Amino acid sequence: MKTQYYTSASLDGFIADSHNSLDWLFQFGEAGDSYPNFISEVGAIAMGATTYEWILNNQIDEGADRPQAWPYEQPAWVFTSRIMAAIEGADIRFVKGDVLPVHQEMVAAAGNKNIWLVGGGDLVGQFYDRGLLDEVIVSIASVTLGSGAPLLPRRIATPPLRLLSAKVYGEAFAQLRYQVPIRADETTA
Ligand SMILES: NC(=O)c1ccc[n+]([C@@H]2O[C@H](COP(=O)([O-])OP(=O)(O)OC[C@H]3O[C@@H](n4cnc5c(N)ncnc54)[C@H](OP(=O)(O)O)[C@@H]3O)[C@@H](O)[C@H]2O)c1
Repeated sequence: MKTQYYTSASLDGFIADSHNSLDWLFQFGEAGDSYPNFISEVGAIAMGATTYEWILNNQIDEGADRPQAWPYEQPAWVFTSRIMAAIEGADIRFVKGDVLPVHQEMVAAAGNKNIWLVGGGDLVGQFYDRGLLDEVIVSIASVTLGSGAPLLPRRIATPPLRLLSAKVYGEAFAQLRYQVPIRADETTA
């Protein structure tokens, strides 16, 4: 069982542009996508409020281009300090504060499967801060955005991430898979 940050980013390290748009990503469609294999191994999901709102506005609500059902069968934990709209029939748990007790709940729910941290970057950073992030799997798209939501706003430099694999998907994506090193302060904790 691993806790994985699986996402796509621009070459300059943003997961959404400054208007929280993913149009730059969706222009590529889903050709050669690793997602079906990835999601089949996921048992629990976590995301931040902005990401949840993006799904609501762009995929679920009546105003979306092609409204659809909540896309995940796995239980999902949404981090927010606000009261947010739930989705009928979806297993969504709204939580706030320290990620450690939430991670413990997620581990219990996931069984032998992995935990997917959908994003955004700072929420994943909070899991990293607690020594709970095992892998970063990022598909780098062949675009630059100049500004936006950062991929992972933490300094992880010494020891560095360990590159486990690099795959090419078409002419747009390089998917890099990294193992996150054990934090120096974890070894003495
Ligand atoms: N490229 C991709 O594949 C990809 C993947 C995922 C997301 N995205 C996009 O990237 C953007 C990410 O936005 P973002 O960086 O703002 O991140 P986010 O993590 O989705 O949302 C941040 C919000 O989550 C809440 N939050 C975070 N940690 C919390 C905690 N410990 N306790 C309580 N609430 C907490 C806060 O909202 P409250 O104000 O409610 O407290 C915070 O403002 C979105 O536009 C999303 O759609 C892209």
